[in-house]
Amino acid sequence: MKLLVTGSAGFIGSSFARLSVAQGHDVIVLDSLTYAGNLANLNPIKDSPRFQFVKGDIRDGKLTLELLHAHKPDALVNFAAESHVDRSIMDASPFVSTNVGGTQVLLDAAKKYGAPIRFLQVSTDEVYGSADDKKPFTEQHYLKPSSPYAASKTSSDLFVLAFHHTHKMDALITRCSNNYGPYQFPEKLIPLFTTNLFEGKKVPVYGDGMQIRDWIHCDDHSRGVLAALEKGKSGEVYNLGGGNGTPNIEITKQLLKLTGRDDSFIQYVQDRPGHDRVYLIDHSKATRELGWTPQVSFEQGLADTVAWFRENRAWWEAIKSGEYLAYYEKQYGNA
Ligand code: NAD
Ligand code: DAU
Repeated sequence: MKLLVTGSAGFIGSSFARLSVAQGHDVIVLDSLTYAGNLANLNPIKDSPRFQFVKGDIRDGKLTLELLHAHKPDALVNFAAESHVDRSIMDASPFVSTNVGGTQVLLDAAKKYGAPIRFLQVSTDEVYGSADDKKPFTEQHYLKPSSPYAASKTSSDLFVLAFHHTHKMDALITRCSNNYGPYQFPEKLIPLFTTNLFEGKKVPVYGDGMQIRDWIHCDDHSRGVLAALEKGKSGEVYNLGGGNGTPNIEITKQLLKLTGRDDSFIQYVQDRPGHDRVYLIDHSKATRELGWTPQVSFEQGLADTVAWFRENRAWWEAIKSGEYLAYYEKQYGNA
């Protein structure tokens, strides 16, 4: 396939670009390089003839239309987003602008383009809210987003489904659970805690640390998106998850062990406002219809990820700026 992929200088999009090129697909990346976009994430494929990078914003409809006409891709895959829940609590406006507005502009560009193209929206399990009854979300679960981030992703999903319904666009959605792996920006739980522990700093556990997330390796997520592109039905939603529902405090203890630190490095801090307690995902539809199952065991994936952060210190040290730390100290106390 020839793929126009947005947001691929970020964490999961870069995994997807690396995997797609390795599997023989052509990839044109469109990314505006926000604080979360990092060209170093694409270094492994930067010299491949199958790869091309374009710096640009998904809210620029003219640019997207030009790229569609120039490259005639088989599919447009939208990873680009503001992705961090804590930032959406501080200021929701970039989330509405990129996640909702940007998706709508991409859909409009695909509609104006007119030639057959598949539109795949990369979404999240957060659209379902909190699974307080501990029953994994199916695709039929009602939508009840809690955070401004989740509300923006839900809204963009609804635009995708509306364009499919109204304009008969070949569009589909994947909704994945919490990702981990190499190149994850060190503001998210696993890379933040891992790098803090390497630096000899404490790790800020929100509230009681008993919130449950379903962890999946980013490469398994990428394989799921490729499977949906190849075998998914238009207008459908496919849940992707790792089947590893684990409380944050347990993850924290595994990270302490993998980095050779003890419990004195745990610092309980004020909880995230509106914090969802439980995300659990039922991915049986993706297994049944796409032939997809996650391949990376959580134990091995987490150990490999910690090893990657140990070996790639220059990558994350360049990111962990003073400004970034000041943000967290102001919000959640001195970690
Ligand atoms: P990320 O924050 O690491 O990367 C986001 C990328 O999008 C960056 O490269 C950034 O420069 C780019 N971007 C942001 N705004 C843009 C704009 N207006 N125009 C062009 N590019 C722009 O995000 P991630 O964690 O890799 O998540 C990727 C996608 O997957 C998001 O849509 C997110 O909602 C979804 N998702 C993430 C997870 C997770 O656990 N991280 C789980 C499920 C779904
Ligand atoms: O569920 C999928 C979602 O997973 C994606 O859609 C989001 O883009 C992605 O950021 C992620 O959202 P979370 O809020 O679950 O991820 P985060 O890594 O921020 O937090 C994971 C859990 O860890 C959550 O319960 C909050 C907690 N946490 C997080 C941080 C950063 C802490 O206890 N301390 C922290 O410092």
